[in-house]
Amino acid sequence: MKIQVSKHGPYIVTGGVPLMVMEISYDDGGDCRSWKKVREYPLQERYALCRCGRSRNKPFCDGTHAKVRFDGTETAGNEPYLQSPTIISGPELELIDYEGLCVHARFCMRAGGIWNLTERSSIPEARNTAIEEACNCPSGRLVLRDRKTGETIEPFLDKSIVVVEDPVRDEHGPLWVRGGIPVESAEGGTYTIRNRITLCRCGRSWNKPFCDGSHVGQ
Ligand code: FES
Repeated sequence: MKIQVSKHGPYIVTGGVPLMVMEISYDDGGDCRSWKKVREYPLQERYALCRCGRSRNKPFCDGTHAKVRFDGTETAGNEPYLQSPTIISGPELELIDYEGLCVHARFCMRAGGIWNLTERSSIPEARNTAIEEACNCPSGRLVLRDRKTGETIEPFLDKSIVVVEDPVRDEHGPLWVRGGIPVESAEGGTYTIRNRITLCRCGRSWNKPFCDGSHVGQ
C-alpha cells in the first residue's frame, strides 16, 4: 500500500487501501468524543484522491486541478516540526506535542485539556482521559509516552484512509491516513512513516502535503 503525491495533482493511492468517511461525534457537553463511520467505499486497487479541494466528485479527483492551475507545491520539506516538539512531563505520562501538525480536531480540549491531564497523570482518571484524547488525535500531533516503560502509546489502526467530516461545525477536514501507509513526495523520497498522519484535501495548507488546519472556517 502506498500514497503517491503527484505534482500539482491528486494523491494516487495503490495497493487496495480501504477508504471511508468518518464524522467527529460530540458529547452532550459539546466536547469531541469519538469517531463515527458514516460511509465505506467499495475497495479499489488504485484510485486518485482530490488534493486541490475543487473536484465535483470528492473525495475523488475529477481533473479540476488542471483547469484551476492548482499549485500543489510540497512545502513540508524535511519535516522540521518533527524535530523539536514541545515535551510536557507528568508523573506517569510524557506528552510529545508536534504543534505544527495540528488539524483542529479538538479531541484534546476535554476535561481541562491533555496538557493539564498529563501533568496530573498520577490520577488514574486523568491518565486514562489523556490517553483517550491522544489516541483520537488524527494527525499524530499528540503522542503520549508511558514514563515507566518508555514506550509510546499508540492506538491500533488498520491501514486505511478516512475522509474527515465535522458536520456540527460544517468543516470538511483532511484525509486521515492510518496504520503507517507510506506517502511518497512528487519530488522524490518518502515522508516519515507514522501510525497517524493527515493529508490536506482542501488545497490551502501551508505545509503540503500535510493538513495544517487551514480548512477551518472555509
Ligand atoms: S484539509 Fe486541512 S488544511 Fe487542507
